[in-house]
Amino acid sequence: MSDTKRLGERAQNLIDALATISADKDALTRLYLTSEHKRAAMLVGEWMRRAGLIVRMDAVGTMHGLQAAGAAGPRSKKRLLLGSHIDTVVDAGRFDGNLGVVAAIVAVEELKAREMALPFELEVLAFGDEEGVRYPKTLISSSTIAGIVEPAVFDLVDREGMTMRSALAEFGGDPSHLASEAYSRADILGYLEVHIEQGPVLDQAGEALGVVTAIASQGRYRIHVRGEAGHAGTVPMAIRHDALAGAAEVITMIEEVGRAGAKDSLVATVGQIRAMPGAGNVIPGVAEFSLDVRASADEARVAAVAEIRRRVRQIGLRRGVVIGVETMQEKPVALTAPRLRRAIAAAIAETTGKLPREIMSGAGHDGQAMIRLTDIGMIFVRCRAGISHNPVEFVSIDDMGLAVEALVKTIMAIAHEGAPP
Ligand code: GLV
Ligand code: MN
Ligand code: MN
Repeated sequence: MSDTKRLGERAQNLIDALATISADKDALTRLYLTSEHKRAAMLVGEWMRRAGLIVRMDAVGTMHGLQAAGAAGPRSKKRLLLGSHIDTVVDAGRFDGNLGVVAAIVAVEELKAREMALPFELEVLAFGDEEGVRYPKTLISSSTIAGIVEPAVFDLVDREGMTMRSALAEFGGDPSHLASEAYSRADILGYLEVHIEQGPVLDQAGEALGVVTAIASQGRYRIHVRGEAGHAGTVPMAIRHDALAGAAEVITMIEEVGRAGAKDSLVATVGQIRAMPGAGNVIPGVAEFSLDVRASADEARVAAVAEIRRRVRQIGLRRGVVIGVETMQEKPVALTAPRLRRAIAAAIAETTGKLPREIMSGAGHDGQAMIRLTDIGMIFVRCRAGISHNPVEFVSIDDMGLAVEALVKTIMAIAHEGAPP
C-alpha cells in the first residue's frame, strides 16, 4: 500500500470513529459543550496521548496535544499550531472540522514514524466551537487562545435558556481562567489547518488539494421583530401587526440584497427562525431570526448590511412593527500568510506533482480568530460536488491521504526554513 493510501485509511478510521458520537441516532449533530462534544473531546485526547502528545483540556473545552521540540536550537521553545474543530452543524457531514483534527493527529503519528526531530514544539488543537450553532457566536475556542474572547459571551443563552457559563461548568471548563489560556505571539510560529473546501472548485477542476488565500469577510446578526399578538380568527387583516409576516418580508428583502452582490461573492442567509407565542391560532407577536452575511471584501459586506438595515426600517414603519438588528459578530477578511502559502503550495506540488490552485474560502474557519495571534495557513481538500453542512458530504480516502502527506511536508518545510522572519 502506498504511504498516502495508508495515511488516508488511518484518517478514515478516525473520522468514522468520531462520526459515531452524535446527539441524534440517525444523524451527526455535535454541538459545543454537550455530552457528545465531551465524548468526542475525550476520544481525541486518547488519540493524542497514543501519538505521544502531552494532553490537556483548556478552560473552554479545547483539547491540546503538545509535543516538545525534538532538537535543540533557537526555536526549541517556539510552537507550531495545527488544528480544527470537532463541533458540527445539525445533521452534519463527518469531515467538516473533524478532518482537520484527524489530519493533524495522523501527521504527528507519521512524523514520529519517520523519526523527524522537529526544532520546535508542535501542538494539535481540537476546538469545540467553530460553528456557532448552539450559541449565536462562533470561534469561542480559537478566540480564547488568541486572547480575543469577550467574557460577555459566557452570558449568552441557548434555545433551552442555558447560559454558556453553566454549560461550560457542566462540561468541566472554567471561564474564570480565560486570561491564562491566551497564547503570546512571540511564542508561536504559525497556525496550519487542513479543511474540506466546502465548495465545488477543486472537484470541478479534478484536483485533490488547494491552498487558501483568504477567509471571507463575515457578519452574524440577530433580527427581532416585535408586532402584536392577537386572535387568528377575529383580528381583521387590515389592522394586524403580524411579526412573522414582517419577518417574511425582511427575509425576502435580504435574499434580494444578497443576489445583487454577486461580483463581490456576497451571500446573505437566514438559517434559523422562531415565532412567538407559536400557536396555529395566534397572530405572531414576536419573530426572531438569524442573519449571516459574507463577501470577498469587507466594504461589500458592510455596504450590504447597511442596505439591509435601511430597508428594515422602511418595512418596520410600513407594517407598524418594531424591528431591531443586533450585531452578534463581525470578522474582517483573514488573509493567509504568504510564507505559509508558499510552504503549503510547495508541499502540495511535491505530494501531487502539480502546483495547487489558490482558493478564497467563503466558509468561516478558526483561522479568522487565530490570525489575531499568528500567521495562518490552510490546505483545502476536495469534497464531492462541493457539498458540505449536509450528511452526504464526502472526501475520498486517497484525498485525505494526500492532505496528511502535504501537511507533513509543510511542517518539514517550516522546520527547514530557519528562524522566522
Ligand atoms: C462554518 O462552517 C461557517 O462557515 O459558518
Ligand atoms: Mn469547518
Ligand atoms: Mn462548518
